[in-house]
Amino acid sequence: MSIIAESLGRIKPSVTIAVTTKAAELKAAGRDVIGLGAGEPDFDTPDNIKDAAIRAITEGKTKYTAVDGIPELKKAICAKFKRDNNLDYEPSQISVGTGGKQIIYNALIATLNPGDEVLIPAPYWVSYPDMVLLGGGEPVFVPTTAASKFKMKAEDLEAAITPKTKWLIFNSPSNPSGAGYSYNELKALTDVLLRHPQVWILTDDMYEHLVYGEFKFATPAEVEPKLYDRTLTMNGVSKSYAMTGWRIGYGAGPVELIKAMAKVQSQSTSNPCSISQYAAVEALNGPQDFIAERAKVFEERRDLVVSMLNQASGLSCPTPEGAFYVYPSCAGCIGKKTPEGTVISNDFDFVSALLETEGVAVVHGEAFGLSPHFRVSYATSTEALTEACGRIQRFCASLI
Ligand SMILES: Cc1ncc(COP(=O)(O)O)c(C=O)c1O
Repeated sequence: MSIIAESLGRIKPSVTIAVTTKAAELKAAGRDVIGLGAGEPDFDTPDNIKDAAIRAITEGKTKYTAVDGIPELKKAICAKFKRDNNLDYEPSQISVGTGGKQIIYNALIATLNPGDEVLIPAPYWVSYPDMVLLGGGEPVFVPTTAASKFKMKAEDLEAAITPKTKWLIFNSPSNPSGAGYSYNELKALTDVLLRHPQVWILTDDMYEHLVYGEFKFATPAEVEPKLYDRTLTMNGVSKSYAMTGWRIGYGAGPVELIKAMAKVQSQSTSNPCSISQYAAVEALNGPQDFIAERAKVFEERRDLVVSMLNQASGLSCPTPEGAFYVYPSCAGCIGKKTPEGTVISNDFDFVSALLETEGVAVVHGEAFGLSPHFRVSYATSTEALTEACGRIQRFCASLI
């Protein structure tokens, strides 16, 4: 009999991390590999934030803190919600965790009972379904299409809700599609949710500040204040402040839920790193101008990548509103063969052959619940992106 718990048989390791690891291994073996698999900004953490962390160390702020965050950080998070989202939260409604990931995990573990359904629009961030399964719930996928720019429509949401639905996990701009819901698109969804009081909303706003052109970010509790009492608004410093390694994320919601989440955290990791918490205070309270400057760079890269991928034979790539991902369809390559005779039967074959022949690492759409697609992260230098997209074009042209 295996030592491993049966519950673990229901979940799989993070595929995006696996792709990044595989690309790193090939690189270490001397292959010329360009990794477009990682979901983290290539920019450095700003100096004022690093300095705040150094100060925290020299001042001895290196001890345990309150389980779900120091008061200074909770206060800074409340100010952020007011400033950016016009949402009023008290510190008692805030939970700080080890990355946004832990906030989602805590919320699901703290609330799910066996048989509870959690709606997840597809394509989705890889961790949502597995976290729901770990919590004993049932992920229920709501598929979207490239034609709707990967956005769920009100009628799709309505049709997916049952008396067992406990949560909708909403993510805009999305990882992996980059799709962002406008105020009106979101309002159509919140109108549906108003009719189903048993459904809570877990909104993952990690990519809030990475939006382009005329697009304006909106979040459910802001669009429909009547949903405030059943919304967990989750966000973090990882993407906006280039702080992925510092591991600070946060959520805001009703006190009962926040307390339950702290209970879960108190019996697992306890407080997030004290030094990172002080760095996050500086991130949220300090200068914010660099965020828009960096978003401008991401926007230029998005335009470059979308244009180059749309010139590749067999690919079609919608222009997303935000994040740093595009999610092209490779339907036009399915059924073809590489010059070496490998048949491309699905998006996994496509990304495997692309990595093998051209050394470009991307993640297949099946991992995100919508095929045949693949995810390209453009959080890397313009030179590397130009080279990688050129290689993708050459790969697609070589298929027969
Ligand atoms: C949509 C989404 N939510 C949450 C996270 C987790 O963020 P963190 O690194 O703060 O745990 C990520 C990271 O990739 C993400 O893409």
